[in-house]
Amino acid sequence: MKNDKITSQRRKVVVVGAGSVGATYCYALAQSGLADEIFLIDRNEELARGQILDLVHGLPFFPTVNIEAGTEDDYADAQLVVITAGSAQRPGETRLQLLHKNAEIVGGIAENISHQGCQGVMLIVTNPVDVLTYVALKRSGWERNRIIGSGTVLDSARLRYLIGNHCGVDVHNVHAYVLGEHGDSEFAAWSMTNVAGIKIIDYCPICNKCSNWKAERSKIEQQVREAAYQIINAKGSTHFAVGMSLLKITASILRKQNSVLSVSVMLNGEFGLKDVCLSVPCVVSDGGIEKIISSPLDPEETVLLKRSAVVIKKAIDSLS
Ligand SMILES: NC(=O)c1ccc[n+]([C@@H]2O[C@H](COP(=O)([O-])OP(=O)(O)OC[C@H]3O[C@@H](n4cnc5c(N)ncnc54)[C@H](O)[C@@H]3O)[C@@H](O)[C@H]2O)c1
Repeated sequence: MKNDKITSQRRKVVVVGAGSVGATYCYALAQSGLADEIFLIDRNEELARGQILDLVHGLPFFPTVNIEAGTEDDYADAQLVVITAGSAQRPGETRLQLLHKNAEIVGGIAENISHQGCQGVMLIVTNPVDVLTYVALKRSGWERNRIIGSGTVLDSARLRYLIGNHCGVDVHNVHAYVLGEHGDSEFAAWSMTNVAGIKIIDYCPICNKCSNWKAERSKIEQQVREAAYQIINAKGSTHFAVGMSLLKITASILRKQNSVLSVSVMLNGEFGLKDVCLSVPCVVSDGGIEKIISSPLDPEETVLLKRSAVVIKKAIDSLS
């Protein structure tokens, strides 16, 4: 999607949710020089005010950027609206109850963004991100390319880090994707994994760091799946790496970078799946999803992707 109305305007990003993830993303975004204007909104206005004050005191050290408290009116001419707003799980509250609450929050925000006539891209971060990307799509009535879930961009980064660490190579030379649900049913697409352009399986004899790569890769995959639990147990929330993942998606949108990212997108027949949002490799640009890369996966991976779709669909169905 190309939009003439916003191309000549200042690069404006609205962030909804000033908690750990929203504030960390704003901090990274302010340092990046990607945006001209950042507007932060939270239903807890005091919190938003505090985060903004803390951020603007860094302005002498950031590239020039305007950071302010936002209102719903700010959606209208935003190029990107990032939704991190949500409720945290309360003691005694089930995941399903939390899902209903967050679906109401994100659905309501998506509807507002649509009512304001925003022509930009919506990026959903609040969990469960795949289900909420679906909810945002339905409630906004937008076309599917303009609503992206942050999906497994973070999980793919964790996978790349762990492979790079294991093989003793720079993480930038590792290409790898986690696909499916951003959650327990996600999986590493080993068929797409390479080190310096060499398929991981062919890189093994060169690497020679372990005697049983299959066992090692299961351990790595498990570590990726458990990373969020581990970090939340240790410090209460995850925010640095997710903030950087959101920045990577933002750069691809605001700078039309066409980066291939494992974002959550509504499938419409790709990979044999329909009416479900989950992460697959996509080309991301100024209009959101430029292209879904639906190249065939290994048969085993196809089964895992379908299994993930079943898990997400079940959660979507539980909302009706
Ligand atoms: N997709 C990912 O990769 C990923 C990674 C980490 C966290 N997350 C998710 O991001 C979300 C935010 O995490 P966090 O640690 O920042 O949580 P947090 O509780 O610190 O912040 C959430 C904020 O949302 C605000 N909020 C709630 N309802 C609102 C509404 N209707 N309008 C405006 N603001 C509203 C709250 O006041 C709060 O400040 C969570 O759902 C978390 O699970 C996603």
